[in-house]
Amino acid sequence: MNASIAWNATAFTRRMGIEYPIVQGPFGGGFSSAQLVAAVSNAGGLGSFGANAQAPDELAGVVRSVRALTTKPFAVNLWVSTHDEAVAGLTRAAYDKALAGVRRYFDEFGAEPPEFPYQVRYTFAEQIRALLDASPPVFSFIFGIPSRDILIECRRKGIATVGTATTAEEAHALDAAGVDAIVASGFEAGGHRASFLKPAEESLTGTFSLVTQVVDAVKAPVVAAGGIADARGIVAALALGAQGVQIGTAFLACDESNATAMHKSMLFGEAGRHTVLTRHFTGRLARSIRNRFVEETSTADFAFLPYPVQGWLLKPLAQAAIAKGSADVIPLWAGQGAHLLRHTKASDLMAALVSETSALVGMREKQLTAEDAGDAEG
Ligand SMILES: Cc1cc2nc3c(=O)[nH]c(=O)nc-3n(C[C@H](O)[C@H](O)[C@H](O)COP(=O)(O)O)c2cc1C
Repeated sequence: MNASIAWNATAFTRRMGIEYPIVQGPFGGGFSSAQLVAAVSNAGGLGSFGANAQAPDELAGVVRSVRALTTKPFAVNLWVSTHDEAVAGLTRAAYDKALAGVRRYFDEFGAEPPEFPYQVRYTFAEQIRALLDASPPVFSFIFGIPSRDILIECRRKGIATVGTATTAEEAHALDAAGVDAIVASGFEAGGHRASFLKPAEESLTGTFSLVTQVVDAVKAPVVAAGGIADARGIVAALALGAQGVQIGTAFLACDESNATAMHKSMLFGEAGRHTVLTRHFTGRLARSIRNRFVEETSTADFAFLPYPVQGWLLKPLAQAAIAKGSADVIPLWAGQGAHLLRHTKASDLMAALVSETSALVGMREKQLTAEDAGDAEG
């Protein structure tokens, strides 16, 4: 029996038009690159470009830059909720209080804080209009569900849709909205918790439990995300009923991603094995390597601003720290699977995932056949 055919053809690969049920997770905040997306798509997976930080007039360029490097399907990802509600009522006093809590870092790294008030640059409504015009093969999203009109327009244009759930209730809502696939994002995942029905702190189910909960709750194909970085994770996810996996941290560590060299080397080292969920970098809960900033701000009275204003406040600090080669006060997004990282080229990572999963599936089948034969003899 050809083991590779047995595992890689799923309802998800059929819907997306890809060869292997492996999604390179989108990276927002400027961490994505067209090279990474294309490398994964060209290797038969689904590359994804996280475009939440791109202004509407930049989105056609994003789609064009990926299309220049691959003719295969790929996804562009947006955040349905781009701002916390509290941003609208933000006061100077709240800004001053948050700044006072981090002022010492600005002094230490010689950074200038941004001028209050924060200005909203663009909305999801403007981004999605531009993205629909650019018409990528797949539109994936987090932090909510786009309106019915948007999902209908995607279908009309032949754009496949992939939503993200952190609870079975969110998955059920995405399924009812008619998305083509649902990412079940477990608590192990790197980056932001994409919760949209309950607070992220109340939506912290691990991948193993979440995938079975979601598979049992929905009709759409489910893609498991969080802590998966090798063939064992892929086989486990498929055994739980997922039709695909979404891998973030292992691709973030590859040369093609836009993460800094310092961040990548930490992912491969001891530091990458110690991650924590914190709201203190951006205002929303996200998983980062535990560094000095995380440690020193982990007090109950640390004042921070709503998303995305906290990130806007800290951006000049992060830029100054990176320029000085320090990882002490910058977000170092990482999932709990960093100890599994081995590859620095996306095409090598894809090739290893495919061949090692085929081997593992083949081995399992041999074992089961031998056990059957043993049972028959006994
Ligand atoms: C730096 C970083 C940025 C991310 N940005 C996004 C994003 O904008 N949209 C999204 O759907 N997922 C985002 N994610 C989640 C990943 O796409 C993926 O689901 C997750 O990393 C999987 O877990 P893992 O890191 O344990 O492999 C991000 C993850 C990281 C590490």
